[in-house]
Amino acid sequence: MSDVVTLERRGETALIRIDNPPVNALERAVRDGLRVAVAQVRDDPDIRAVVVYAAGRTFVAGADIAEFETPDFETDGFREVLDQIEALDRPVIAAIHGTALGGGLELAMACHYRVAVPTARVGLPEVTLGLLPGAAGTQRLPRLAGAEKALDMMLTGRAISAREAVQAGIVDELLEDELVPGALAFAEQVAQRNDPLPRTSPRAVDPATVPDQLFQRAREQLVKRPTGNPGPSRIIQCVEAAVQLPFEQGVELEARLFQECRESRESAALRHRFFAEREARKIPGLPRDLELRPVKRVGVVGAGTMGGGIAMNFLSAGLPVVIVEAEQAALDRGIGLVRKNYEASAAKGRMSASQVDACMALLHGTLDYADLADCDLVIEAVFENMQIKETVCQRLGEVCKPGAIIASNTSTLDVNRLARATGRPNDVLGMHFFSPANVMRLLEVVRGGDTAPEVLATVMQLAGAIGKVPVVSGVCYGFIGNRMLESYLRETEFLLLEGATPSQVDRAIQSLGLPMGPCRMIDLAGVDVAAKVVIEHRATGGLPDDPAYRAVVQALMEQGRHGQKTGAGYYRYEDRKPLEDAEVLELCGQLARRFGIEHRRSISDEEIIERCLYPLINEGARILEEGIAYRPGDIDTVWINGYGFPDYLGGPMFWADTVGVQEVCQRLADYADLRGNDHGYWDRSALLERMAAQGLAFSDWPFS
Ligand code: 3HC
Ligand code: NAI
Repeated sequence: MSDVVTLERRGETALIRIDNPPVNALERAVRDGLRVAVAQVRDDPDIRAVVVYAAGRTFVAGADIAEFETPDFETDGFREVLDQIEALDRPVIAAIHGTALGGGLELAMACHYRVAVPTARVGLPEVTLGLLPGAAGTQRLPRLAGAEKALDMMLTGRAISAREAVQAGIVDELLEDELVPGALAFAEQVAQRNDPLPRTSPRAVDPATVPDQLFQRAREQLVKRPTGNPGPSRIIQCVEAAVQLPFEQGVELEARLFQECRESRESAALRHRFFAEREARKIPGLPRDLELRPVKRVGVVGAGTMGGGIAMNFLSAGLPVVIVEAEQAALDRGIGLVRKNYEASAAKGRMSASQVDACMALLHGTLDYADLADCDLVIEAVFENMQIKETVCQRLGEVCKPGAIIASNTSTLDVNRLARATGRPNDVLGMHFFSPANVMRLLEVVRGGDTAPEVLATVMQLAGAIGKVPVVSGVCYGFIGNRMLESYLRETEFLLLEGATPSQVDRAIQSLGLPMGPCRMIDLAGVDVAAKVVIEHRATGGLPDDPAYRAVVQALMEQGRHGQKTGAGYYRYEDRKPLEDAEVLELCGQLARRFGIEHRRSISDEEIIERCLYPLINEGARILEEGIAYRPGDIDTVWINGYGFPDYLGGPMFWADTVGVQEVCQRLADYADLRGNDHGYWDRSALLERMAAQGLAFSDWPFS
């Protein structure tokens, strides 16, 4: 018998146990093991029923995603095993705990019965990987749950609770008892009943579950909200086939479409994203068994835009939060906003009124720093000003108990300087949340020069617990994301000075799949906020000696065009709709004349994309070179989760590989010739040049 699949007899019932940690993924050894186990059952007439279950924390979490890139990957063989399970002439029961996802649910659906513990969840999340279920899931799920439910589950990739799965007809019974004893008891019952075996594949999809126009409406939704993900349109095709065609024909179609998806660049990008997010949690050189500091109570300083949102993350996870403000009015406003946000969630049905009250009861507002004495972690989110933050940090160093972690939410300031101000730099790091902090998944965790390893590890773990995707960044201006954004915004503005219009720049960038071009993005975030960052950056000597550098955003601020909130910025707004504004074009023309920048009649979308994104990739390479980010995948994780970079492009570094690093490097050199390079804007990073010379891709990282 195999190491990962074992068969054991309990009386007349055979127990097939899958044990392939961490998540029992269906790699080749598991498929082979199942094949052997099924043959053993077939050959043993004394076995009256079979229970399939998994060891460890979960049932099977699906195909082994790492195998997709290897010759070992196949779905035909797995589908055959599933057919063999379904064809057995004795009842087979899948016993589910944890999550039955993708191939795991497909395995369960090939069994004759499914039982689950109440905490279990089931789903077909393949779409999140740019795929569709490839082991008959698109054909079995509609036959069990109906077309509408199956379509919804596959298009969203959402896992449903065991209770919902019972209602949907996917799970037959919830187990009151423990998993294995409960499943054994169920198996004995069905063996005794001797009912005909309820196989799924010969059934027809219940016509009552196919509302009029179901598939047409689903296709219209895709047209309305186009996505580069190759899965959804093919999932619709497969579910339609499940309704219209016999099982075998549906499976044939599914196999063909699955293959198309798997071979697509978009699915490869989404698989990259899956592993990159998980890899980002691992910190090179840090022992895995480091003892973490307990975090049971959190403090937040500053109840402004960020402070309130930051507090909500912890309140929602059930941790008490103390929020300290300088002024009563600001405190009241901040706490009021937290309540308003929770109430808005409740109005949308995302939480109950009692949950709102429970979260609010965990929040304590105060003007007294001494109230932070009991906190295990304190995050400061006061004004972005070094002097103010240094004073706050010094205070925190005094009032926080020994062992408490002190974090700063600064976007640009030197975390090492703030750490020194506390007098206890080992306890300090940056926790750079993104706005709105209660919604955005990204958390840049800024590792200071003196940050203690267990402080870093504790915060990485805590980030996961509050549902964030953490990425470690070293200390530098703007960390990973905003530092790269700077070159993108620089070129945006030069393009405007050369004669491109805001809508042209935005349209070109959006054509790549980014949800919002740079001009709309700044209008939304606040022209004043963006301009102040440039001014501050210049004051601290961080910018080149170029008066044209991001001159547009500063001029717009001076004119009171602060963006959408004032009805005008890069665009003018009518009912929040952005409209091109002749005044802005005129302003750009004036600035261009002042700085001697030549106005060009036509600028292509291709140039806009290259000029905005290739310098950004170049900066990413520099960030790797300097050790600010550990891996290209970390940078991709930042851009997908913090800046809306399309996940099906895999992030900027993965996308650079798609374009070709040599091409990116060459075009940077071309623009240096074309636009001039007095300020070094087009200097290639040494890493990028080396990669181009040696034919390396970011996916080859780490380079020897
Ligand atoms: N294949 C390979 N590795 C997987 C995996 C999979 N399907 N699912 C999880 N892992 C790995 C992770 O990479 C991670 O590895 P690491 O510890 O080395 O970083 C480890 O298992 C634990 O994963 P998580 O950190 O994500 O653990 P959580 O407890 O937070 O979540 C989970 C567990 C809910 C199972 C989550 O891992 C998950 O959603 N997994 C993917 C499920 C999925 O997409 N399944 C469909 C696969 S495609 C398929 O089945 C095709 C079929 O139709 C033919
Ligand atoms: P904000 O101006 O909305 O809020 C700051 C709050 O801090 C104010 O309510 C103020 O009264 C309070 N405060 C000032 N000094 C204080 C003190 N000594 N003690 C207690 N409270 C004090 O600012 P915002 O936007 O929330 O930014 C806070 C921090 O978060 C800044 O460092 C900023 O760079 C960072 N950040 C902001 C983002 C954004 O999009 N707004 C995104 C990511 C980080």
